[in-house]
Amino acid sequence: MTTIPAFIDARRSIRSFTNEPVALDALDALVVAACSAPAPHHSRPWRFVVVHTDDAKQRLAAGMGACWRADLGADGVDPSRIDELVSRSHEKIIEAPALVLGCLTWDGLDRYPDADRQRAEWGMALLSLGAAVENLMLAAAASDLASCWVAAPIFCPEAARDALGLAEHWLPHALVMVGYPDPDYVGRPRPPVPLEDLRATR
Ligand SMILES: Cc1cc2nc3c(=O)[nH]c(=O)nc-3n(C[C@H](O)[C@H](O)[C@H](O)COP(=O)(O)O)c2cc1C
Repeated sequence: MTTIPAFIDARRSIRSFTNEPVALDALDALVVAACSAPAPHHSRPWRFVVVHTDDAKQRLAAGMGACWRADLGADGVDPSRIDELVSRSHEKIIEAPALVLGCLTWDGLDRYPDADRQRAEWGMALLSLGAAVENLMLAAAASDLASCWVAAPIFCPEAARDALGLAEHWLPHALVMVGYPDPDYVGRPRPPVPLEDLRATR
């Protein structure tokens, strides 16, 4: 029976936090861990924004919320349901003690004349942002901090960027809520890994 290494098992998505603020030094340490991730051809295509003020949290939540509201409206979702979904997401974001917003840039990435390879290059950057975010969350767990990835900015990178007044080439793609874990939060048990379904051997 294969066991998951303890440092990997310790990271779970925790969506509820105590009111205790997270020190900026502790958040910086998470960003340093993120920036130790593997990245294509020695690039560092990621940028991280530590969002810790109430004003910035509100602006980010409102900017992404407006974008989601428009998408849901275009999908024909009932307006009261839209209000419910967007306000729940807004609350979740502003209630997190801190947020770390992972952005991508083209810095250090190769440029190709054709769209297929250009897309693959951006795909590599995205993969490396995923690795960086996992590093960040593993480091959080190692510091007794709770974290949870929030998908929202990948659907509206420009809205998230503009809400925070970031440089044009910083494109937000991953948001992580960070805080000290609410002791009453009960997450789902981690499901077993059905190895026969998820891996092949040749
Ligand atoms: C790319 C990505 C986007 C995610 N987006 C959200 C999200 O928007 N809201 C949320 O509550 N959890 C989100 N999650 C967390 C997953 O729901 C969670 O990782 C999954 O249920 C497994 O649980 P665990 O992280 O505790 O192992 C996201 C995870 C990933 C990798």
